Amino acid sequence: MCGIMGYTGVEPAVPIIYSGLKKLEYRGYDSSGIGIVESGKVELFKTEGGPDNLKSRLPFKSSSAVGLGHTRWATHGAANEINAHPHTSPQKLFMIVHNGIIENCSELKLRYHLDSELKSETDTEVIACLLEREYSGDVKEAITRVMPQLTGSYALGIICIDFPDTLFCAKKSSPLFVCTDERGAYLASDIAAFPGDTGKIYRLGDGEIGIIKKDSFKVFDIDGCRIRKTEIRLRDTEEYEDKGGYEHYMLKEIYEQPSAVEKTLDSIMSDGKIKLGCLRMNRERIKSLTRIELIGCGSAYHAGLAGAYALQKLLKIPARAYIASEYKSMGSVADENTLAIIISQSGETADTLAAMKEVKSRNAKIVSVVNNRYSTIAQESDSVIITRAGREISVATTKAFSAQLAVLYCIAVRLAYSAGRIDRERYRALCAELLSLPEKSRQTLEKNEAIEKIAQILKDAEYTCFIGRAADYCTAMEGALKLKEVSYSHCEAYAAGELKHGTISLIENGTPVIAVCADSSALSKTVSNIKECKSRGAKIICITDSDYDGDADDIVIKIPDTEDLFSVSAAVIPLQLIAYHTAKKKGCGIDKPKNLAKSVTVE
Ligand code: G6P
Repeated sequence: MCGIMGYTGVEPAVPIIYSGLKKLEYRGYDSSGIGIVESGKVELFKTEGGPDNLKSRLPFKSSSAVGLGHTRWATHGAANEINAHPHTSPQKLFMIVHNGIIENCSELKLRYHLDSELKSETDTEVIACLLEREYSGDVKEAITRVMPQLTGSYALGIICIDFPDTLFCAKKSSPLFVCTDERGAYLASDIAAFPGDTGKIYRLGDGEIGIIKKDSFKVFDIDGCRIRKTEIRLRDTEEYEDKGGYEHYMLKEIYEQPSAVEKTLDSIMSDGKIKLGCLRMNRERIKSLTRIELIGCGSAYHAGLAGAYALQKLLKIPARAYIASEYKSMGSVADENTLAIIISQSGETADTLAAMKEVKSRNAKIVSVVNNRYSTIAQESDSVIITRAGREISVATTKAFSAQLAVLYCIAVRLAYSAGRIDRERYRALCAELLSLPEKSRQTLEKNEAIEKIAQILKDAEYTCFIGRAADYCTAMEGALKLKEVSYSHCEAYAAGELKHGTISLIENGTPVIAVCADSSALSKTVSNIKECKSRGAKIICITDSDYDGDADDIVIKIPDTEDLFSVSAAVIPLQLIAYHTAKKKGCGIDKPKNLAKSVTVE
């Protein structure tokens, strides 16, 4: 959430920073800006909207070799030019960019009577003011005085005009990386923003302060003691990909799902068996588990719901998915016999990280399922399983979600077998089913043309209802989220049996009802719920792997027959495509839906 890109070196800074910001816009695109140091003075170029809007305002010919850039997801203050970063201190001694949120911002404004000094509504400008107040010639010292006054999370990039070739940085609970190469040194919230692949990359830790010059990088703790950093050893670094001929990243990523699932399964399975040594749990430890908690936000939470369903059915112990932001408030009941599965594509989601810290403090065993091996969640877990979805650019996740499902299903099957809850024959059969998932996704994608027609109905609908039972309920929830995220359509997912308890009052003549019928254990009951909707005028759209054909005026999308436990895998694909095509017909921004960001690093 918010992207930071800084550079100090021997080449013009603006093109380098702009190209970094383009790679970071998934973190927010409400407003953006670049600040450089030119002739001993700070020059700012800012705009509403993301880096694309900024481009025409940038001085690409400037020879300044130092600067900071930012792409913003608004927290304090509207998404306009004034609130865009970088911000400067009152005397323009400091220029700063910030990712995170300062929770005691109002208190600081009052304490130091800052209101008259501030030009923007941001919490960031407050930090710039504090730095200037605490500065008496030593920037590191000023930062160490300001940091303890800040509550919340922050990754900061700072330039002080007295040291025009130097970038300063500091962080707490928001990611920050430094890269050094022969052209200079870079600062960014994600390693994807760094150019080339020859640089040495370092991760800044919480409470650390970095001093970055074109040929050196030094790190200190809050007491001013020097810390030696070790270079991150990069594996699987991925190129920043283009759309590969697709009109949008979302569509490209939907089509990449078979391969994402295949690669993920390949990394976990061999000879038709599941290898999860990385869990570091022997048979006795697995048998000692009394509950499983799956924690995530957004789609990762929905993957957790699907995982919980498979885990509880197979392992026969309570398995429950939690929305990360609600986890702590509910009062955790985790203990050392709890397995906590932390699910996050980015590995940086602040709510998920906070829940992970809570569950860790209760001595639960932590396994994280993340797509970014260099992320904070990956670093702080007992065990990590990396999904092999590759870089996902569309803000609405598709392929990372599918890869998460594959991992969770593997964990469920492996734990159930190790705990003796399923026999060898069932284990082998389930493993074979898992290996068939990529092909089933491929076959489902072939239905795209038929699915596209559904968008014509949804685009004008005032309200769309998704229903499903058992695993199909998880699919319905993810389908409704996708439709809301990218097409801004009002819709809701319901457990099909719950409709008659109130929501059926929303069904009117022509209301689209998307019924998911891929979990055969629930088919006959869901079909009854379909009939109930139909008799009240609903337009039925059914996604099924059964031989249910519906009535002549229903739309039925047939998908390949899939093991009930894993049915979300194939059944979610038509719903992703429905969301995509509806958004396209409505002319929505698709890859960058309004108000959203891909990596949400504030609680
Ligand atoms: C954001 C994204 C969602 C994503 C959620 C969790 O809200 O827009 O698509 O599911 O964050 O992200 P994570 O990186 O933790 O999986």
